[in-house]
Amino acid sequence: VLAGCGQEPSPVGVGGNGGGGNGGNAGGARRPLPIPPLLEPRTVDGNTVFSLEAVTGTSEILPGVATPTWGYNGSILGPTIRARRGDIVRVEVSNRLPEMTTTHWHGMHLPARMDGGPHQPILPGGTWAPEWRIDQQAATLWYHPHPHGVTGKHVYRGLAGLFIVDDDASDSLDLPRDYGVDDIPLIVQDRRFDDDGTLDETDLPDMGLLGDTPVVNGVTDPHFAAMARRVRFRILNGATMRVFNLRFSDGRPFAIVGSDGGLLDTPRTVENACISPGERVEIVVDLAADDKVTLRNVRFADSLEVDDGDAPDFGLDDEFDLLTISGPGAGEDPGALPTELNTTLGALPDTDGARRRSFDMEWFQINGRRMDISRVDEVIDHPGWEVWTVSNKDNWIHNFHVHDTQFRVLSLDRTSTTPLTDGWKDTILLAPGAVATLAVRFTDYTSTRWPYMYHCHMMYHEDQGMMGQFVVVEPGEAPVPAIGSGLDQ
Ligand code: C2O
Ligand code: CU
Repeated sequence: VLAGCGQEPSPVGVGGNGGGGNGGNAGGARRPLPIPPLLEPRTVDGNTVFSLEAVTGTSEILPGVATPTWGYNGSILGPTIRARRGDIVRVEVSNRLPEMTTTHWHGMHLPARMDGGPHQPILPGGTWAPEWRIDQQAATLWYHPHPHGVTGKHVYRGLAGLFIVDDDASDSLDLPRDYGVDDIPLIVQDRRFDDDGTLDETDLPDMGLLGDTPVVNGVTDPHFAAMARRVRFRILNGATMRVFNLRFSDGRPFAIVGSDGGLLDTPRTVENACISPGERVEIVVDLAADDKVTLRNVRFADSLEVDDGDAPDFGLDDEFDLLTISGPGAGEDPGALPTELNTTLGALPDTDGARRRSFDMEWFQINGRRMDISRVDEVIDHPGWEVWTVSNKDNWIHNFHVHDTQFRVLSLDRTSTTPLTDGWKDTILLAPGAVATLAVRFTDYTSTRWPYMYHCHMMYHEDQGMMGQFVVVEPGEAPVPAIGSGLDQ
């Protein structure tokens, strides 16, 4: 029984990594890492059509314990959707849950009506079928519910999946890209359990559903028996509130090759990588044939914390194992990584004279307001770059996510920048007091007039209303007046 996804893994997911080969490691206490299966599309009139069904089920997150969970096409998490730049995709999402949900394509550039935010509710029994052209570079994106006020709960119950975009440029690179073999998705999360094995959904003050039990791809304490000496991990922080600081148990260096929105210009060698809820990092790690190493979460540098006994700590001091990894037993030394990964990333854009906006994040509000689904906070009525200054005015951490686009980080103080902030980002971590300036651009799909969101992606904060809405319109055009009726479609 595969506990993780509650469904049969794809053949490629299982190949060599399921069954006995993997389970016999680490004293047998660890279960093989479940690999979410690739979702097979149908082709209809030249379009690529995927089907997702949000369903209830029971998952073995903890070994031998049945936990009621939600998932897409299975009891927990969802299959990995994979599409190419230029594809026209349609995703038919059916809701078999007992309550309304939505499905948001995090990191995707697409028309607002297809975005899957709070304005595109899918009622129980209903189906929603957004369609759009994939028009962005290869990247590891993801999908998750976004119903206003309960996003955190829906994700915590299990609804989350990866959406991988491919393109010709990334295909031509000598990077591991055999899904489930040497290109491995890792959805890192945390949860809390009641004694009877059900999920503890009690919101902690300020920290919501911060968990005490690490979960990777839907299970605790997984083991990955590598089939190659070089492995790429596409890591998503799918936790509601926890920031992960990833490091290998032996402190070995590894390469960061991709951020939220695509590949970095060149691989950056690091010893740890930090991702907050919603962020992704793609890493490449080399293994010895007989390696044994553990991917861990380690405590943060003090720069993330304020010395204030009253501030919530968000688990930043916690240290724990996420995934044990064993080498393939044999195999050639993989040699050097390509030095050039993304020639289109380029220098930071020239934002001289760009329209500027600021976003002050403080006490569950942005610019002094909580989310109001019937209020448009920002109207973007011109092409080209804007400069957004985002300030964390609190003495605890936040992050900031913008729908529809990938941005570049012009500056970031208080925390040191990381290799991730050199690449395309859609979500950025802000230490207490941090100020980031972002070069943000909205292209095409003008005149969609429905709102997109920007918000803190720490889901308790988001659900408390730390979110605003913007529209992208033609110059002089007004947003749709009746937004927020809940009947937008
Ligand atoms: Cu990952 Cu507004 O969402
Ligand atoms: Cu926040």
